[in-house]
Amino acid sequence: PTPTPTHFSTTNPLDSTIPKQPFVIGVSGGTASGKTTVCDMIIQQLHDHRVVLVNQDSFYRGLTLDEMKRVHEYNFDHPDAFDTEQLLECVEKLKSGMSVQVPIYDFKTHQRCSDSFRQVNASDVIILEGILVFHDARVRNLMSMKIFVDTDADVRLARRIRRDTVERGRDINSVLEQASISFLKYAILPSVHSWESMFFLYGLRKFDSENLTNFLPIMQYAKFVKPAFDDFVLPSKKFADVIIPRGGDNHVAIDLIVQHIRTKLGQHDLCKIYPNVYVIQSTFQI
Ligand code: ADP
Ligand code: C5P
Repeated sequence: PTPTPTHFSTTNPLDSTIPKQPFVIGVSGGTASGKTTVCDMIIQQLHDHRVVLVNQDSFYRGLTLDEMKRVHEYNFDHPDAFDTEQLLECVEKLKSGMSVQVPIYDFKTHQRCSDSFRQVNASDVIILEGILVFHDARVRNLMSMKIFVDTDADVRLARRIRRDTVERGRDINSVLEQASISFLKYAILPSVHSWESMFFLYGLRKFDSENLTNFLPIMQYAKFVKPAFDDFVLPSKKFADVIIPRGGDNHVAIDLIVQHIRTKLGQHDLCKIYPNVYVIQSTFQI
């Protein structure tokens, strides 16, 4: 039988179809794979929705004085480096429509800002981004969609060295002047077993604090970042619904993801083309 419309309502889906529960997206991948870039691109395309980004980095534990003294021995890539309980509570609150105060983390001092927070309000879409956001099953289970950004390790290392130097207060210009990235990857990294061997490779005799600062990112990568990627990040790739090769360069993947989110948010395409057109919603009686 032909369905008979029994009720019409003229409502603007932009206002009325905001789901009761926000759509939670997890974005994981190795360091400098382009997670933040991908998130920014998704947020840009969803400009007509309320979207918030929560970084797992914000939940890094601040280092104690003792840990600060031996920062080169601290593993920032291990799951224990994060306060996962606090992250979980934060995402649970956001998912239930509450606003939260997210800590602010300083990569230069390895500390949280003790007196300031970032206010994150209730939204249609919550994006949770970080190297280990798929690690904890409780956090994972809050996600409606899981994306893994898959970028080659050598590309990531090159980007990370540049980013850490420019944005995160690490000084390795001297390293970049002395060695090309491929030299670092093929000659240095496989042979780095200790600080001493690293310094020997560079013909440096002095094990002083200046050298320590210069080489910290390289040592950190070989000693912690790469092994933790193999042990924790890569195994969590199996939980992903979507894997994006080449990160932010992959516009097709990002368009498809945005299209899926829009469908899930219940937004009709018409509204995108004619923002002033109200969609007539109807219920049918068979
Ligand atoms: P993640 O959040 O995974 O650490 P980011 O998106 O912050 O990665 O990217 C890491 C660095 O690489 C940043 O400096 C960023 O500008 C750069 N970057 C990211 N994607 C690209 C790309 N497709 N091409 C060139 N540089 C990129
Ligand atoms: O943005 P990205 O995903 O790369 O951030 C995670 C990385 O930040 C980790 O690989 C970790 O080694 C690094 N990190 C750091 N210093 C800190 C905290 C994290 O270099 N204080």
